[in-house]
Amino acid sequence: MRISQIVRIRTESPTVKTFMLTDRLCAKAKPGQFLMLWIPGVDEIPLSVLDAGDNLVSVSVKAVGDATRHLHALEAGATVGVRGPFGNCFTESRGRVLLVGGGTGTAPLLFLAKQLAAKTERLSFVEGAKTKDELLFVHELGGICNEKSLITTTEDGTAGLQCLVTQPLASLLDKEKFDMIYTCGPEIMVKKIFEMTEKRKLPIEASLERLMRCGIGLCGSCMIGKYRVCRDGPVFNAAQLREVQEELGISKLGFDGSRIPL
Ligand SMILES: Cc1cc2nc3c(=O)[nH]c(=O)nc-3n(C[C@H](O)[C@H](O)[C@H](O)COP(=O)(O)OP(=O)(O)OC[C@H]3O[C@@H](n4cnc5c(N)ncnc54)[C@H](O)[C@@H]3O)c2cc1C
Ligand code: FES
Repeated sequence: MRISQIVRIRTESPTVKTFMLTDRLCAKAKPGQFLMLWIPGVDEIPLSVLDAGDNLVSVSVKAVGDATRHLHALEAGATVGVRGPFGNCFTESRGRVLLVGGGTGTAPLLFLAKQLAAKTERLSFVEGAKTKDELLFVHELGGICNEKSLITTTEDGTAGLQCLVTQPLASLLDKEKFDMIYTCGPEIMVKKIFEMTEKRKLPIEASLERLMRCGIGLCGSCMIGKYRVCRDGPVFNAAQLREVQEELGISKLGFDGSRIPL
């Protein structure tokens, strides 16, 4: 573990903050990879890389529990611990690509979208959130996709279409031929999107989340089927998702090894 300093903090929404950290190694991370962030005296947690370069790495973090709330309470200048970057990354697809993000799952997809923007023929993004204030990175995504290629949805109808993020997808997938669909977000959303791409025989890469301790394939707490999400993922392709269908969106291992429903 390396000691790192928080150099900048940006509030993204009422529950999400972005932390820019110093770290020479994580500054080389690729879209889809994650790091393990140690909040001194509290816990160490996995977080997807939002951006990387110039000896700096950024992560966007939703306050959901002990570690993330303590992290939100820190100020610029504070010291944390960093390991990584870990895991595989999204493959770079050319042609027409569609990215679908829910909640903080939008973070690694924004990183990917920035890298793909100049290389793809067309880049479309669908982002969903519960409410307008929780729609992340809309301004940045608007700058990458043109307006027609960015669809936002909210459950309460305060911005974009009033529906779940999966709703506009069916017609979009029927209308356009995509060369790759990338997704990251709540697992139930990932599962629905996977079912849609399977029905249409389309390629997909999905970033999955599991409880993690070691982050390097040793402890087994992040298993899904035969895979360790930290080492074999977090990005999985259609063939791998097919193999773990019985668990996908249904259950995961808890920290005590028991199976908990999602
Ligand atoms: C590869 C990966 C990338 C992630 N990227 C992000 C990200 O970019 N932004 C973000 O806000 N969150 C991300 N998470 C989830 C984040 O790790 C958890 O929200 C965090 O660990 C919760 O810790 P806590 O102590 O605040 O909450 P806890 O009180 O421990 O738990 C609150 C909730 O978070 C879940 N959780 C707890 N520990 C973990 C863990 N080690 N791994 C996964 N889920 C956990 C619990 O099931 C529970 O639902 C990612 C998780 C993984 C596995
Ligand atoms: S977190 Fe230990 S094997 Fe994945």
